[in-house]
Amino acid sequence: MAKNPDLLARLTEARAETDRLFTHLDPSALYLRPIDERHRMAFYLGHLEAFDWNQMKQTGMLAASPNPEFDNLFAFGIDPEPGQLPHDQPSDWPKQEQIHSYNQGVRSTIDRHLQEAPEENLRMMIEHRHMHAETFAYILHNLEPAKKKGPTEHLSVAAPVTQTFVTIPSGFSTLGKNSGEGFGWDNEFNKLSVPVADFEMSKYKISNGEFLEYMKLTGAAAPHYWFEQQGEWFYRGMFQNVPLPLSWPVYCTWNQASQYARFHKLQLPTEAQYHRAAFGSPVDGEERHFPWSSEAADLTKQGNFGYSAWNPVAVNASPDTESAFGVAQLVGNGWEWTSTVFAPFEGFAPSPTYPGYSANFFDNAHYVLKGASPRTSATLVRRSLRNWFRPEYPYVYATFHLVRN
Ligand SMILES: [Fe+2]
Repeated sequence: MAKNPDLLARLTEARAETDRLFTHLDPSALYLRPIDERHRMAFYLGHLEAFDWNQMKQTGMLAASPNPEFDNLFAFGIDPEPGQLPHDQPSDWPKQEQIHSYNQGVRSTIDRHLQEAPEENLRMMIEHRHMHAETFAYILHNLEPAKKKGPTEHLSVAAPVTQTFVTIPSGFSTLGKNSGEGFGWDNEFNKLSVPVADFEMSKYKISNGEFLEYMKLTGAAAPHYWFEQQGEWFYRGMFQNVPLPLSWPVYCTWNQASQYARFHKLQLPTEAQYHRAAFGSPVDGEERHFPWSSEAADLTKQGNFGYSAWNPVAVNASPDTESAFGVAQLVGNGWEWTSTVFAPFEGFAPSPTYPGYSANFFDNAHYVLKGASPRTSATLVRRSLRNWFRPEYPYVYATFHLVRN
């Protein structure tokens, strides 16, 4: 009997999810690099097992690695500064069979020790895998269509949505968490309470339709997943293209979102404002776990997250996920850019088994994102979770609400 059968089942599920992603790939695609700023796809095939091995190794329970060279080769992803792209060649990477055999060796060795593995390490292995299920989806999205296969989705192209603003009354936002309050990554600690003055927030995420209007007015460049053909705009979906759905949230960079905000004399929300709008309550001193619920485990009113779709839905498609103040989709259907630079909370201590997880990114060159995208696991949907990306990185499923201060 496992110490925590639920956790072991979740590891099995997470493995099934990432294994499934590779079945969408044409075998000839493994050594391609669909995103210039990331490793070739073969890296990700070995990385998940290498990470698990390196985590478990630190528990002292494992003997010799099936391949110590691979433990290092597949240990870390990359996030180069602008203009410093990687130069490695396909031939620099091991053959697919070698990676598969490494993975099998790692999994079977680890599985013999899972019953005694510390929960903290297991949770890191599960969440890390789910994080890569999402970032690998971005890579797959950018792979040329002939090299991948997947389901044909019915893409809902609803009518454009009329934007409105709602008032968020002043109050306190609780960011982060304290030890003893459940698993979190190092950057989620410690808890802090931030006073937030009243402000207004757009009820909906900014839509493709709104961004298109702005482009026509300003000549601003199109977001990464759009393309133009004979004067018409299209959205490059995961497995199929579609005439630009004006009702969908615009997926764009932090820079594009900020410029859009500036043009409209509005702002991106701070991390604390996001929290206030998403988790605040009209009842003084009360905060919700999810925008739609005070229950700690209430994922029942799901928006578009948890691998429910490959593509977005309309910004007004999930009214039952609205926050207490009536803001829609603060969790789900696309990460939310904030104006907050990614930095540690007071009391931050690097994770002992993964010291660079957050600390390597406290460089004033990454911004905090909150919420979830269609490809974010429900496992990662919690109030304290923080995501971060560079302001010019265009591949993430990130969008924004705007605020008027
Ligand atoms: Fe990783």
